[in-house]
Amino acid sequence: MNNLLAARQAPGVLIQVTDLTKSYQTDSGTIYVLKDVNLSIDPGEIVAVMGPSGSGKSTLLFILGIFISPTTGSYLLGGEDVLRLDRNAQAEFRRNRVGFVFQSCDLLENSTVYENLEFPLIYAGVARGERPARIGAALDLVNLGHRIHHSSNRLSGGERQRVAVARALVNQPQVILADEPTGQLDRSHGHQVMDHFVEIVSHSQTSIVVVTHDPEMAARCTRVCSIRDGILYEQ
Ligand SMILES: Nc1ncnc2c1ncn2[C@@H]1O[C@H](COP(=O)(O)OP(=O)(O)O)[C@@H](O)[C@H]1O
Ligand SMILES: [Mg+2]
Repeated sequence: MNNLLAARQAPGVLIQVTDLTKSYQTDSGTIYVLKDVNLSIDPGEIVAVMGPSGSGKSTLLFILGIFISPTTGSYLLGGEDVLRLDRNAQAEFRRNRVGFVFQSCDLLENSTVYENLEFPLIYAGVARGERPARIGAALDLVNLGHRIHHSSNRLSGGERQRVAVARALVNQPQVILADEPTGQLDRSHGHQVMDHFVEIVSHSQTSIVVVTHDPEMAARCTRVCSIRDGILYEQ
C-alpha cells in the first residue's frame, strides 16, 4: 500500500495495522512469523484472534502492545505512528494506553494482589491516594475483592489469571490485549472474564483483542479473526 495512504488513519479507528510482517533470522534461515497482516479495529470492538499453536498470535499481540517491533509495515494506535516513537515514548504510550494479559499471567511473586495491581498505577503516575479505589474496582470486576491482601503465591491458577486480567484493566487503558486469558479458567470463570470485557467496552471507548481457542468465547466477540501460518483472515 502507498505509504502516504497507510499513514492516514480513518476517523474513529483505534488500531490500524497495515502490511505488517515479522520475521526472525535463525541459523537455519529466515522464519516468517507474520505475513502482510492488515487489521483495523474501532473503539468498542472486541476482536477474537484464533489459530493453532505457533501461528503467530502472541507475536501479533506483542507488536500491538509495542513490546516488539515488526520487521516491516505500519502500526497506528490512536492516530499515533507508534513505531516512529523512541523507546521512552513507546514505553510511556504502553503504560498509559495498553493493558496486557500475558499468556503466562506473569504476576510478581512474593507480593500481594494489591501490590500486583499497584505496579502499573505507580508507573503511570497515579497518585497514592487514588490507587486503593482503582485497585478495589478492578478486583471487583473479576470478583476477587476478597483476595486483595493475599500473597500471589497462594492463589489458584484461575485466581492468578483473574488477577492478571484485573491488572490489565486497572489503568483504564484504551486497548486491552489478552493472550489466552481464559485458558486456565473453568467455563463459568471464563464466561465471567468475557462478561467483564463486554461490560468494559459498553461503558468506554476501549477496544479488546483476545486470543482464544474457545469458540464460545469467540462467539461473544464483535469480530473473529483467525491466523494460519502468519496470515490473518477475517471471518
Ligand atoms: N524470538 C523468536 N525467534 C525465532 N522465532 C520466534 C521468536 N518468537 C516467536 N518465534 C516463532 O514464531 C512462531 C509464532 O510464535 P507465536 O506468536 O508465539 O505463536 P502462537 O502464539 O500462535 O502460538 C513460532 O514458530 C515461534 O517459534
Ligand atoms: Mg501464544
